[in-house]
Amino acid sequence: MDATGLSKEQAELFRLIEDTREHVFVTGRAGTGKSTLLQYLAHHTQKQIAVCAPTGVAALNVEGQTIHSLLRLPIGLIADAELDHPAATRKLLNAIDTLVIDEISMVNADVMDAIDRSLRQARGRRSEPFGGVQIVMFGDPYQLAPVPPRRGDELRYVHDHYRSFWFFDARVWAGSDPELPGAEGTSLLDLGRYGAALRIHELVDIHRQADPRFRRMLNAVRHGRVTSDLAEILNDTGARTPPEAGPGEVPIITLATRNDIVSSINRRHLDALPGRSQAALAEVNGDFGRGESGYPADPELHLKVGAQVMFLRNDISNPGQPPRWVNGTIGTVVRIAGGSVRVEIDGEDVDVEPAVWEKLRYAYDSVNKSVTREVVAEFTQFPLRLAWAITIHKSQGKTYDRAVIDLGSGAFAPGQTYVALSRLTSLDGLYLSRPLRPRDIRVDPDVERFMSAAQRG
Ligand SMILES: Nc1ncnc2c1ncn2[C@@H]1O[C@H](COP(=O)(O)OP(=O)(O)OP(=O)(O)O)[C@@H](O)[C@H]1O
Ligand SMILES: [Mg+2]
Repeated sequence: MDATGLSKEQAELFRLIEDTREHVFVTGRAGTGKSTLLQYLAHHTQKQIAVCAPTGVAALNVEGQTIHSLLRLPIGLIADAELDHPAATRKLLNAIDTLVIDEISMVNADVMDAIDRSLRQARGRRSEPFGGVQIVMFGDPYQLAPVPPRRGDELRYVHDHYRSFWFFDARVWAGSDPELPGAEGTSLLDLGRYGAALRIHELVDIHRQADPRFRRMLNAVRHGRVTSDLAEILNDTGARTPPEAGPGEVPIITLATRNDIVSSINRRHLDALPGRSQAALAEVNGDFGRGESGYPADPELHLKVGAQVMFLRNDISNPGQPPRWVNGTIGTVVRIAGGSVRVEIDGEDVDVEPAVWEKLRYAYDSVNKSVTREVVAEFTQFPLRLAWAITIHKSQGKTYDRAVIDLGSGAFAPGQTYVALSRLTSLDGLYLSRPLRPRDIRVDPDVERFMSAAQRG
């Protein structure tokens, strides 16, 4: 590690992004520091960049904008729909050198191709992939995947035009298969328009887990190669009743597959506490998008003294001091009064005030000739949520020392069990509500195909 706080491989990758115009896909196993590198890049790059993500909440997490709002893409399947940009958007898209996309595994091939077309059009550089913009993507396709389209006609379109729904099968990438149905009739000349090289750079050093044996187990789960020996160790270790958290101890969170299971666990625990719950209502200013799914926290947060909570943001109140909590820290509410909530974290009390999430929009500043960000909406709420349980989906990106993993009636998505297990820093913190079954470990065959080809090439 050097003065940047980055490891050697992270620092090298940062230089590659800074010093070249290559399209880069930054990937790597859980805990290899992808998000850490993205944050560093966003704060230290000399380039004009825009950071975006597929969902509103993911965009708030990286202080960026959603892909759809940044590029003014239509909602739903885009295919070859006409794209149009207001003058301000066109100016902005002309000013950027680099587009950073977080959570790339949730971006589908149709959107990836629309990003390409949109940039070519806005920049008037129709023969260059992405209109000459460098694309830097972050994510791990072995973790949770893009949500497939719900509508039958959209699903059929994707089947007819793409090898898979994954971003890496978009037509913009060189080597995407011209033999595909739907691509027939494409002349060689047309194909020449495509062909951006998708370079994969894999971070290999794991920072979250230190134990080589646990790392090996996680890797086996990631690739669906769990031998019966490994399964036995995981199941034997995890088969124990989680201890009741004593006073001053960090309580244990349950990671469960489904929303309804999570809600019922949280409700049951909250109801079991004595006293009346108090509600904190979020303040929303400006347009926060469609409905509550775009909110970064509960619009109506119910708390009681004794409630187990998780922080949703890093502590930024004392710059220069170590943060008292980070996104994912777990604690217990000990007092609710006077517009603040006192939370005990690992034996220490901290007073938590409401936090402001800013929805940002990039703009082009023609005076300074640079890309700027403006606040278009604000969401103010305590950066807390009930945390006896959360969904495995919501746990992506987080780190826990101890957790109960509850796969209920079974993992239903590829990568789900890997995400859950890889949140833990060590095997000592693993509690399984039931033994893992072979069916819980699912790997998407398209991911296997792409990632193993990438490793060979
Ligand atoms: N260079 C580093 N030195 C020390 N710790 C690091 C370094 N990079 C990352 N970490 C720490 O390792 C943990 C995992 O890092 P990070 O969350 O960036 O990984 P990730 O690859 O994004 O993981 P995931 O795929 O689970 O989202 C974090 O606690 C982070 O602070
Ligand atoms: Mg991450």
